[in-house]
Amino acid sequence: MKLEQASKRAAELTEEIRRHDYLYYVKDAPELSDAAYDKLFRELQGLEEAHPELRTADSPTQRVGGEVLEGFETVVHAAPMLSLDSHQDEKVLRRFDERLRKALEVATVEYVVEPKLDGLSLELVYEDGVLARAATRGNGRQGEGITENVKTIKSVPLRLRNQDRPVPAMLSLRGEAVLPLAAFEAVNERLLQEGKEPYASPRNTAAGALRQLDPKLAASRPLDLYAYDILLAEPFPEDLEMQWQVLQALKDWGFMVSELSERAAGPEAVITYHAGIEEQRDDLPFEIDGVVVKLDALAPREELGRTSRHPRWAFAFKFPPRKEQTRILEIVPSVGRTGVVTPVALMRPVEIGGVTVSRATLHNREEVARKGVRAGDLVRVQRAGDVIPQVIERIVEDGDDAERGPEFTMPDECPSCGTELVERGPFTVCPNSFECPAQLAGRLVHFASRDALDIEGLGEETAKLLVERGLVRHLPELFDLQAAQLEDLPGFAEKSAAALVAALETASDAELPRFLYGLGIPEVGVTVARVLARHFGSLEAVRGTTEDALQEVSGVGPRMAEQIRAFFDQEDNGEVLDRLLDGRVTVGAVEIHRPEEGGAEAAPLAGKKFVFTGGLEAFSRRRAAELAEGLGARKVSAVSSKTDYVVVGTDPGSKADKARDLGLTLLDEAAYLALLSEHGVEI
Ligand code: IVH
Repeated sequence: MKLEQASKRAAELTEEIRRHDYLYYVKDAPELSDAAYDKLFRELQGLEEAHPELRTADSPTQRVGGEVLEGFETVVHAAPMLSLDSHQDEKVLRRFDERLRKALEVATVEYVVEPKLDGLSLELVYEDGVLARAATRGNGRQGEGITENVKTIKSVPLRLRNQDRPVPAMLSLRGEAVLPLAAFEAVNERLLQEGKEPYASPRNTAAGALRQLDPKLAASRPLDLYAYDILLAEPFPEDLEMQWQVLQALKDWGFMVSELSERAAGPEAVITYHAGIEEQRDDLPFEIDGVVVKLDALAPREELGRTSRHPRWAFAFKFPPRKEQTRILEIVPSVGRTGVVTPVALMRPVEIGGVTVSRATLHNREEVARKGVRAGDLVRVQRAGDVIPQVIERIVEDGDDAERGPEFTMPDECPSCGTELVERGPFTVCPNSFECPAQLAGRLVHFASRDALDIEGLGEETAKLLVERGLVRHLPELFDLQAAQLEDLPGFAEKSAAALVAALETASDAELPRFLYGLGIPEVGVTVARVLARHFGSLEAVRGTTEDALQEVSGVGPRMAEQIRAFFDQEDNGEVLDRLLDGRVTVGAVEIHRPEEGGAEAAPLAGKKFVFTGGLEAFSRRRAAELAEGLGARKVSAVSSKTDYVVVGTDPGSKADKARDLGLTLLDEAAYLALLSEHGVEI
């Protein structure tokens, strides 16, 4: 075919396929059979192969995932991507409404109410109608450029539709990438079949997919994107005066917009909507964690302004965490990688918001005593922050107490290595750090975990096996494993053995932040590891630094600096590192980057305000605050409606009462430890 003819046909096919993509993925109303669609698609692919000059960036064939990337670029957003002031308490919503009524001098405020999708907030930028870049939210000012991965999301138009509405020359919009629950379950089922660790939530899975350097892997997760806001448009369409019209415009341009969005006048209507959506929550195809309430009129947005992080024209009215009942089958002591022995409740599996929960840590013996739970008890369980399972309380049943199991007692000796356990504050610890098999297995799992070296196929079971069989006696020996040694292990065959060896080979070329995190330095979570890597640039530099120099790193306080220094000074750690670096692992250097206000960058608790009241057992209040600050949080002394979390210890003062009156989130010590642990800070 001549080029001219081919070009005409390619344009027709592109147009046709684009329309069918829209009908199938956005409208959920396909007009073509799969086979007929495939035929069109293959014809276009064929033409592009014969005439590569016809392959445009917005061609439908460009969704399949191209080249593997070296890393993600930093992208500055067209406008700040703020987060929302949020609360689950009706009182706080009413206060939000009252403030708006006063500021706007109206009797009733008109809102648009939308489901708060629990996914990842992304910025998509279209230039002349073509998707030019997409980025994660990052720290709100700048995020990571993940254009190639976003292109694989089928419901994202690569070119905006302009049939119903003209397209601005530049459009930056915001939306939420979510993984539907059914797809999440399918992904986890496959991981389990392959003996791999399942993901904790659809949100984590979506985040993992979008941060893949190989767009083909991202393409294998069927994400969806729901659009909900315009960050910037040039020129801004004059007819758009209301959020409700913005949603319509986004639909016209070809995006998915949640059909659950509505208009609501005044707080009562919002509360009714919230209740209605909460009722539907379990039947929706994706996870939501509340509703977002937005002032419908766009004009007053600017004059209402914002706090440092939140616009004053919107509010997230959250749902309370999901709770379910189940029975504790057994409480067993479990030895973690740091040697701390924690009582773990093994429970009859129960589904909480699409995720099956069968175990929950009870933190320490005092926590077990305080909650008064035993084997056999019926308990209420929730997922904290909708991720980490927690036993909230025992449900007292009528009947014979004799049927309850015995009270939990901590063993005197380590259940893994038999060493006599020691007490450290409220914790019970196995002091045999380097030889205890459970601790070594824990270190292997951590080293192989997703945020560390991401070694596929090295989950808890495999780590335990490797240690039990004496195949790995020290962490570096992991990299000496041969396929032949693995083939005979239970659950392994020729293929899986080769796959693990190949995964180890890939992992042996390690990125510095991942390697630092994987070492399991006390209190160094993902965020601190990233900041350390960027501050020092190389492993040698981190290893050779001083406590003073460490304290100059934002987010690192004196205690953390001391811990990091002590870790590298410890002889056994030094040996592990030397052996790892002795031909087993290479750790890449990274470009030095020291942002002025940097540590807070992408920090998981960035900007969250914490108040601490009452005595804590695991650490002093000051220390507790330092740890939160390491994750980007701010410690404040007075409780107000702006406080995000109030950590309540023993004998708290009036601050706890005030926090309760204001309907704030109260965390007891165990919940606070769980929150830290969720962000990779293990005490
Ligand atoms: S609007 C300035 N609308 O909730 C307003 N956010 O902190 C920006 N989210 O990071 C957000 N569904 O990831 C908005 N319909 C919705 C949303 C939504 C989910 C997320 C978003 C944001 C977080 C709030």
